[in-house]
Amino acid sequence: MQKVDVIEHILRHTNHGQFVNTAGGSAWAPSNVALCKYWGKRDLELNLPVTSSLSISLGNKGAFIKIKQDQDNDADKYIVNGELIGSKTKFAKRLGKFLDLFRPHGVHYHIEVDTNVPIAAGFASSACGFASLVQALNNLYDWRLNKQDLSILARLGSGSACRSVYEGFVEWQKGDDYNGMDSYGVKLGYIWPELRIGMLTISAGEKPISSTDAMQLTVTTSPLYDGWINRTTHDLDTLKLALERKDFILFGEVAENNAMAMHEVMGASEPPIIYYLPKTIEMIAKVRSMRSQGIPLFFTQDAGPNLQLLFLAEHEAEVLQAFPDLEVVLPFADSNSEKIILVDENDVEIGSGEKLAAHVQGKLHRAFSVVILRDREGRLEVLLQQRSTVKYHSANLWSNTCCGHPRPGEDIITAANRRLREEMGFGVELKEVGKFHYRSKFLGVDLIENEIDHVLVGFSDLDDFLFNPSEVQSFCWIDLEDLQQDIKSSPQKYTVWLPQVVDLLLQEM
Ligand code: PMV
Repeated sequence: MQKVDVIEHILRHTNHGQFVNTAGGSAWAPSNVALCKYWGKRDLELNLPVTSSLSISLGNKGAFIKIKQDQDNDADKYIVNGELIGSKTKFAKRLGKFLDLFRPHGVHYHIEVDTNVPIAAGFASSACGFASLVQALNNLYDWRLNKQDLSILARLGSGSACRSVYEGFVEWQKGDDYNGMDSYGVKLGYIWPELRIGMLTISAGEKPISSTDAMQLTVTTSPLYDGWINRTTHDLDTLKLALERKDFILFGEVAENNAMAMHEVMGASEPPIIYYLPKTIEMIAKVRSMRSQGIPLFFTQDAGPNLQLLFLAEHEAEVLQAFPDLEVVLPFADSNSEKIILVDENDVEIGSGEKLAAHVQGKLHRAFSVVILRDREGRLEVLLQQRSTVKYHSANLWSNTCCGHPRPGEDIITAANRRLREEMGFGVELKEVGKFHYRSKFLGVDLIENEIDHVLVGFSDLDDFLFNPSEVQSFCWIDLEDLQQDIKSSPQKYTVWLPQVVDLLLQEM
C-alpha cells in the first residue's frame, strides 16, 4: 500500500479539490519527546512502527506553518524563520516530496515555517513540522478532518509526528492493519503540571545518520532487536502505571532505561550506530552524580547527541545551577496553542491565560456547551456524548453534545463549530440561548472549573457520526424531559455541568 492510497482513503469524504482558502492555511504544533521510544518500522512506506510508543509534548517548542497556493512562481518557495531556503536543500526536498502527495496539478506552494526547534538535531523538528503542516493543509483546503485522521497523515511525513497533533502525554498505538488506519496518536488524560523537561543542547548540527536509515539498519542487523521489542512493550505499561500514580522516580527510571536500551540496540548494529558525543557521556555522568546526591533527575536521548533532562519544578533551581545552559520546558503550563479567555463576573474579557494553568488556579474564564437537538413528533431530543476514557476530567461520563473554550480573539460560535467538528465530526448553524456561571472541583484531579458557560443550540438529524475516539466513546439521542428525570435519579452518570445546561434549555426552548 502506498501513501497516496491512504491519503485518498482519508480524503474521500472531504470536499478535497473543491475549495482553496485564498488567504492560506496555518497551524502550530508542538514538538514531542518520546519517553518510551519508537525505534523500528514494520512498513517503511507508511511509517508503521513495530511497537507502540509514548511521548510528552514540549510546551511552546514547536513549529508554526503558513501555507498558500502560489500562482506566480514555478517552484515551491520555503521561508524558514524569515530566511529563504534553497529548493535543493534536504529540508526543502523532504517537505516538497510530502507536499507532492497533496498537490493539485501544476500548483506550487509558498510555505513559511517559524520554529524554535533546531532542524534535524534530534529535537524532533520533523515531528512538529509535519504535524503543523498537515493541520495547515487541513485549513487551506477546508478538509475538516478529525485529529485521528490528521495524526495518520502526519505519520506519513514522519512517524513521531503522529504524536505531535496533541499536547500532553500521547500514546502512538502501533495498530495491526496493513494500511495503518489503526496506527495513530491518542491523547492520554494524565496531567502533570510540575513536570519539567530540560533541553540540553550538546550539538545543534545535523545528525550523522537520519533516524529512518538508522532504524532500518537496527531492524535488519542488530541481534538485540527482538529484546528491544519485548522490553519496550513492557516499558510502555510501566510508564502508564507511573503516570497513573504520579510516581516520578518510576517514571524517570523507565524513560532513562528505555533511551539507554535504544542506544544499546543501535550500537549492536552493523556497522554500529553511535549518536553519543564525548560531551553526551560527560553530561550523563553528571546527571547520575546529581541523582546519587539525592536529586531526582533523569534523562532521555533521541537519535542525536542531545539530552532531555526530566525533573520536577521543586528541583528546578538546583538543576539549573548544575546545567546553566539548560532550556527548561513546561509541557503543561507553557503551551502555545491552548490559550483561553479570562473574564470577570460580568463576562467582560480581562485577558488570556493558559488553559491548564487557569484550571489549576480556578481562574474565571469563558466556555461554551453545545447542545444538538432534533424534533421527534413535537418533542425535543438531545444528542449526548459519552466522554472518552482518556479525557483529563469527567472521563466516561455522559454530557451534552460537546464543550470547549473559545481562544483569545475567537468568537464563541466559531469556536463551538471548531470543537463540534473536532469531537463529533460535523458542523451546524448554532445559536446562543443563555449562559450560567458554574464552579466545581473535579474528583480525582487537582483542577477547578470556574467558568461562564454559554449554551449554544443547533439542530441536526444525523444518526451516524465520525466522532473522535480520543474525545468521545459513544453517543445517544434522548428525550429532553426524560434526560432531566434520569439526571435526578442517576446523577453519577452525568457531568456536573449538564443539569444546569438542561435546566436552562427547558426554560428557554
Ligand atoms: O519520527 P522519526 O522518523 O524522526 O523517528 C523518531 C525516533 C526517535 O525520536 C528516536 C524516537 C521517538 O519515538 O520519537
